[in-house]
Amino acid sequence: TVAPSPADKFTFGLWTVGWQAQDPFGDPTRPALDPVETVHRLAELGAYGVTFHDDDLIPFGSADDERAKHIARFREALDATGLKVPMATTNLFKHPVFKDGAFTSNDRDVRRYALRKVMRNLDLAAELGADTYVFWGGREGSESDAAKDVRAALDRYREGLDMLAAYVTDRGYGIRFALEPKPNEPRGDILLPTIGHALGFISTLEHADMVGLNPEVGHEQMAGLNFAHGIAQALWQGKLFHIDLNGQRGIKFDQDLVFGHGDLLNAFFLVDLLETGGYEGPRHFDYKPSRTEDITGVWQSAAANMSTYLLLKERAAAFRADPEVVEARAAARVDDLGTPTLAAGETYADLLADRTAFEDFDPEEAAERGLGAVRLTQLAVEHLMGAR
Ligand code: GCO
Ligand code: MN
Ligand code: MN
Ligand code: MN
Repeated sequence: TVAPSPADKFTFGLWTVGWQAQDPFGDPTRPALDPVETVHRLAELGAYGVTFHDDDLIPFGSADDERAKHIARFREALDATGLKVPMATTNLFKHPVFKDGAFTSNDRDVRRYALRKVMRNLDLAAELGADTYVFWGGREGSESDAAKDVRAALDRYREGLDMLAAYVTDRGYGIRFALEPKPNEPRGDILLPTIGHALGFISTLEHADMVGLNPEVGHEQMAGLNFAHGIAQALWQGKLFHIDLNGQRGIKFDQDLVFGHGDLLNAFFLVDLLETGGYEGPRHFDYKPSRTEDITGVWQSAAANMSTYLLLKERAAAFRADPEVVEARAAARVDDLGTPTLAAGETYADLLADRTAFEDFDPEEAAERGLGAVRLTQLAVEHLMGAR
């Protein structure tokens, strides 16, 4: 195994290792974790930072003096370990008040309360040095097409984010927003269900430049989508502000497995993309230690996320460096796709005048050329398996 270090920028949510494993059918199987202990354990394991929802750190409804105490102890642990807080977020889903949503609840009082809850935690996020604030709208959605006006809900979603962006800008917080898509669960249908929906929505925002994405592996896979493709488009549009790494096995409930414990081959190409595609943010694990695990299993699972990432990084680099892979990529013309289709300065008139492009082009002959994608994939699989 490979040992992680803070330079690898691995981060974990307090709610991940801290999940007590209650599910819709069963009680918790583990005791609560003290955030201070979590900070120390994560630091020992080689993590770079920790992230939190307001309510992970400060129990919902705490009085102001209690709130201050929770924050002070947490800060002390951060100072003692050197762990950073690069991201924070708001719990807008647990309390029954959010049963019909937060920014998009039909109840206006709830919408106003939700915005205030976010503003309060934005102040804390800034204080702790976070530069990213995540919005996962788990309750923004519906079970009933009769009871939710989706266009009005999107108006209210935009109104809320526009106002919060103005707040952050006026306060000079230097925080960017990252929206996290998910197709369903806990709502029957969640608004902004995929990377694509969220990108389209962001383009309508007043401060679109400071709003990007926090895509989660399992959430795109719950919609049957190719996560690495989604991440490639997010990067291409300059919108990959943050990422939630985990594992998911197909189209079913949100599993939040350890990174790599789902579609391992897609995880291999994802790590290759993150490492070579210019992403410099934290490698954030948003997973849940399985309900079967005791506390020893919890810390083993935290370590497993980091070790899997580092192993994939090593294997992906070896794959790219393998001369046989270099040759197979050339044969498949992978890099030729980087060449613009028109030559520099060439116009459509030039293209029309180019007989080799059409009149003299032989589509039958071109159709005979094989791609060699299977061979290339097999080389990846063999590197992934440590067989090369
Ligand atoms: C999920 C989500 C959540 C959010 C997190 C931040 O698994 O449905 O990932 O875990 O990311 O709560 O609000
Ligand atoms: Mn999830
Ligand atoms: Mn997540
Ligand atoms: Mn999660």
